[in-house]
Amino acid sequence: MQTIDDLDVAGRRVLVRADFNVPLEDAGDGTRRITDDGRIRAVLPTVELLRSRGARVILVAHLGRPKNGPDPALSLAPVAARLGELLAAPVALASDVSGESAKQVSAALMDGQVALLENVRFDSRETSKDAAVRGQLAAELAALADVFVSDGFGVVHREQASVTDVARLLPHAAGLLVLSEAKIFGKVLHNPERPYVVVLGGSKVSDKLGVIQNLLTSVDRLLVGGGMCFTFLAALGYGVGSSLLEVDQIDTVKGLMADAQARGVSIVLPLDVVVATAFSADAEHKVVAADSIEDGWLGLDIGPLTRALFAQSVSDARTVVWNGPMGVFEMAPYAEGTRAVAEAITHVDGLTVVGGGDSAAAVRLLGIDESGFTHISTGGGASLELLEGRVLPGLAVLED
Ligand code: 3PG
Repeated sequence: MQTIDDLDVAGRRVLVRADFNVPLEDAGDGTRRITDDGRIRAVLPTVELLRSRGARVILVAHLGRPKNGPDPALSLAPVAARLGELLAAPVALASDVSGESAKQVSAALMDGQVALLENVRFDSRETSKDAAVRGQLAAELAALADVFVSDGFGVVHREQASVTDVARLLPHAAGLLVLSEAKIFGKVLHNPERPYVVVLGGSKVSDKLGVIQNLLTSVDRLLVGGGMCFTFLAALGYGVGSSLLEVDQIDTVKGLMADAQARGVSIVLPLDVVVATAFSADAEHKVVAADSIEDGWLGLDIGPLTRALFAQSVSDARTVVWNGPMGVFEMAPYAEGTRAVAEAITHVDGLTVVGGGDSAAAVRLLGIDESGFTHISTGGGASLELLEGRVLPGLAVLED
């Protein structure tokens, strides 16, 4: 991949694809507030590098999945404001994606200045399945700039106008974030030091089947928690009460467990779980053995024995990848499993990677020391697809 060092950026307009798909909440005064700015901070090194070289930086990004054109609730205005604070410099926000406002804002940029285009998914051509349609938007975006830098790692698994098509139209390079993410995942995928342990959680096993299948060819140990563990427990023949269960996946999970056994991969499942009478922080809750979940109770976290077992199971690892919370960490009574696993991983003497999305959010929400991990990815879906062994279009296009 070409890097920014390979591009001549001084005095030139540089279109930078970032991933500003950040969580927002209503601020109560009619505006929206960013609750986790990790993805904004992650692109700052690239923006600062470009500014220091005298580039005119035009950021392009999406927020959410708007269905019918512009939606004020999904405006990038809060992101422009936060970026301005973090850069200690004004960040102009174009009111459209590639129209008059975008042209004016990018034309007005001086060397070292930064602007942001409005949510690129307000233009439905961005996500069109038709390459020719996407190509029209890509051409309009390309006309705003001289070169393209891809730094939205969280979106490199998407074949979209501002991710792949525009890279085909301009001299391009990978930004610092994309380079560092690609390097870490390259190491994990192609040359992991052993023991190599993956901890998987999150709610749906069906989202992770491809990942598990691919991981069975490389990992030494696979720890399964979160809502998805109940389909594994059901595959062992245990009752899971009212816990999250994907009945249609039980046979597939049985097949994965047999495959793991044949390959000598150990799948480590919960010994005990925290169950509650309702999906609520105030509900009655207790710890039960994993094979003794009664009807009417639902599992919302791994239990204390499992916390110790999982901590023990990562302790000798030389490579750990963690993707997906162990329980409903947003509710205090069900946060301890995720906290214990995260903390145990910070004590591992080796390469430790947190897959993006909910696990990265959990690390920040639970106040875990981020410096204890080698790498916290900004890509949820993108990192999962890499672990699944897929070629990501937004990375492949940069290798051309
Ligand atoms: C993410 O949040 O994982 C990325 O920003 C991609 O978003 P998408 O799943 O809506 O394409």
